[in-house]
Amino acid sequence: MRVEYNYLKQEFKNTKKIFSEWSKLIKSTDFTLGSYVDRFEEKFKNYIGSKYCISTNNGTDALILSLKSINVKKGDEVITVCNSFYASAGAIIACGAKPIFVDCDENFQMNINDLKKKITKKTKVIMPVHWGGASPDMRQIMRIANSKKIKVVEDACMGIGAKIGKKSPGTFGIVNAFSMHPLKSLNVMGDGGAIVTNDYQIYKWAKKYRNHGMLNRDKLDFWGVNIRLQPLQAIVAIEGLKKLEKVIKIRNYNSKILDEKLEKLYPNVILPPRNNQNKETFALYMALFKNRDKLKNFLIKKGIEVKIHYPVPLHLQKPAIKSGYKRGDFPIAEYQAKSLLTLPVHQYLKRKQLNYIINSIEKFYKKND
Ligand SMILES: Cc1ncc(COP(=O)(O)O)c(C=O)c1O
Repeated sequence: MRVEYNYLKQEFKNTKKIFSEWSKLIKSTDFTLGSYVDRFEEKFKNYIGSKYCISTNNGTDALILSLKSINVKKGDEVITVCNSFYASAGAIIACGAKPIFVDCDENFQMNINDLKKKITKKTKVIMPVHWGGASPDMRQIMRIANSKKIKVVEDACMGIGAKIGKKSPGTFGIVNAFSMHPLKSLNVMGDGGAIVTNDYQIYKWAKKYRNHGMLNRDKLDFWGVNIRLQPLQAIVAIEGLKKLEKVIKIRNYNSKILDEKLEKLYPNVILPPRNNQNKETFALYMALFKNRDKLKNFLIKKGIEVKIHYPVPLHLQKPAIKSGYKRGDFPIAEYQAKSLLTLPVHQYLKRKQLNYIINSIEKFYKKND
């Protein structure tokens, strides 16, 4: 049996509605911004529960736009986690600021105790990441940030469709970023992203900056860039929003099945504690596995596509080492990087495929205990 990690062939099997809207767009030749982009932004801000949305080219640009909109610049420090995708740190560097890493916790989320230790006079922003589609303790992070008068920008790139209590990721920080990369919960056919904010001044500035800093065709307010969402992708995103809740529900259902069986394999398998008050997107279904590398090869040989997010934490990547980080700086993330594995949990998995994953892992530990 094969269990594929990537589900995009199934996801875009039926493109009738998308093609029909694309055909209307092509006839209109409204290829930059325009009504579809406006419509997506309106729907997205309502879905997240924020006042304003500005769509972007991708999630990385959404992060850069968020940071720039609150004037993050050279000399500033931005605190983020060392167990994230490159873009979390890359966006900080792109603004001229310095990423200050903190360790993660047993949930693969920002470690609150380490965060407290890393705040300095230069800390301009705390940028927690909703890693894997689960969420850090946003209430604590907001309490700490507010007490120090530090701004929070959420990297909610994996968080579309998650909930912290009744609130969505992206409703805590002053301005927050999302990705619609193909393997995110809300995905387009390529790249896409968005920021949300409740702050009118930030909204006004970011909307202009995204589109060259233009006031109109003939007048410029300030130098900006072009990081606009393509209308073709706005159409895909509008369609994606319609089925998003169903997607999240199935991923949660699949994760529950995996959780119930895998927790019995403790201590060979260690699941992150689940918070019943929160809803996850399960962008990544991650757990810690004894003999990870051997298990990974075993599962791949059995046709089960598994991944590692990621084997090398950010602080041990070449550019971070050049700036002074070293092995031993973040023991939890380093330990996890050696034993974590991401299993397929997507919305197109069949029950027999889930059982096959579980049975294969059980078989591995029977042989290797
Ligand atoms: C946590 C995180 N931040 C930022 C990004 C960057 O998003 P994008 O690939 O849309 O630029 C991603 C996704 O790839 C991500 O997972």
